[in-house]
Amino acid sequence: MRERVLELLREKQGEFVSGEDLSSKLGISRTAVWKHIQGLRREGYRIEARPRQGYLLSSLPDLLVPRELIRELARDRLGSEIHHYQTLDSTNRKAKDLAAHGAAEGTVVIAEEQTAGAGRMGRNWFSPAGKGIWMSVILRPTMLPADAPKITLLSAVATVRAIEDLYGLPAAIKWPNDVLISGKKVCGILTEMVGEMDALHYLVVGIGINANLEERDFPPPLRRRATSLKVELGRKVDRRALTVQCLRKLGQVYTLLEEEGFAPVLRLWKRYSATLGEQVVVQTPSERIEGRAVDVDADGALWVQTWYGRRRVVAGDVTLRGESP
Ligand code: BTN
Repeated sequence: MRERVLELLREKQGEFVSGEDLSSKLGISRTAVWKHIQGLRREGYRIEARPRQGYLLSSLPDLLVPRELIRELARDRLGSEIHHYQTLDSTNRKAKDLAAHGAAEGTVVIAEEQTAGAGRMGRNWFSPAGKGIWMSVILRPTMLPADAPKITLLSAVATVRAIEDLYGLPAAIKWPNDVLISGKKVCGILTEMVGEMDALHYLVVGIGINANLEERDFPPPLRRRATSLKVELGRKVDRRALTVQCLRKLGQVYTLLEEEGFAPVLRLWKRYSATLGEQVVVQTPSERIEGRAVDVDADGALWVQTWYGRRRVVAGDVTLRGESP
C-alpha cells in the first residue's frame, strides 16, 4: 500500500493530492494514508502536508533505495534484484554469500557505508556513509576461470562510459581497472571469482566510486592519489543516476562481450587507457618490473617493454611515471 501511495503522489508531480483523494482511490481510511505518509518520510521521502490541500512529494531520499533504482532499470539486464543496506562490512562479501545461496545473475548489493570495504591486493577501501557508490554485482558468465580478467577490464570500461555520459569528464583506465580523473583515482573495482580449475561458478564485481566526497573527507595519505566526482565537477552528483548508469553500461558491455567476444571490449578499453605508451613500474606479487607499457593482449594481460625484453604481467599494481606510489 505504501508503494501505491507513493505512486499516486508521484503521478501528480509537484502538485498537492488531497488526503480524501488518496483514501478513496486506495480504499483505505485517511488515518491509514497518514500512516503511510509517515512511513515514506521515515524512508527519507520529503512530503509536504497542508490542511485542505493534502500532500505533495517534494523530494526523493538521498539514499540508494532499491525501489527507485529498479524503476529506472526495468528494461535493463542487471539490477532487477537489489539489496540495500545502511551499513555492511563489505558489499562483495555479502554478494558472495548471496551468490553461494543461489542468487541470480544481475543481483546487486549496495551499502550506504562499508566498515571493511575490500580493495585489490588485500588493501582496504575507504567507504564513508552516503558519499559514494559502494556496490557489488553478481555475474554468472559461461566462461573459463582463465577468462575472468576480461570481466575486470570490461567493468572499468562500463564505469568510464557512465562517468563520461553523465558528466562529460575525461576519465581514463589504469591497468587493469582503476578509473582516474586528472591522474587521481575516482573509482576502484574488485572482481572476485568462485569456481574450480575448469568451471567458473560466479563472479562478484565490486565497484567503489568516490561520488560526493570532499577533499577533506579522504584520510590524509589518500588525498594525493584520490579524487571524487564532486571535487572534479565542483558540485554534488546524483548518486542514484550514477548507480543506474553504471549498472546500465555494465549490462551493455557484458552483452557486447557475449555477442561479439572480447575484441570490441578490448578496443574500448584501449581507447580509454591511461597506461599504454607510458613508463610504468609494476609491482607483481613476486617482483617489480619497470619499463614501458606497450600492449594489453586478448587475455587482458599487460605487456611491458623492459631493458631486458618484453614481459607479460597478469596481476599487479601499476604506478605511472609522475604518479605518487
Ligand atoms: C581497488 O583496490 O581499487 C578496488 C576497490 C573496490 C572497492 C569496492 S566498494 C564496493 C565493493 N565492496 C568491497 O568491499 N569492495 C568493492
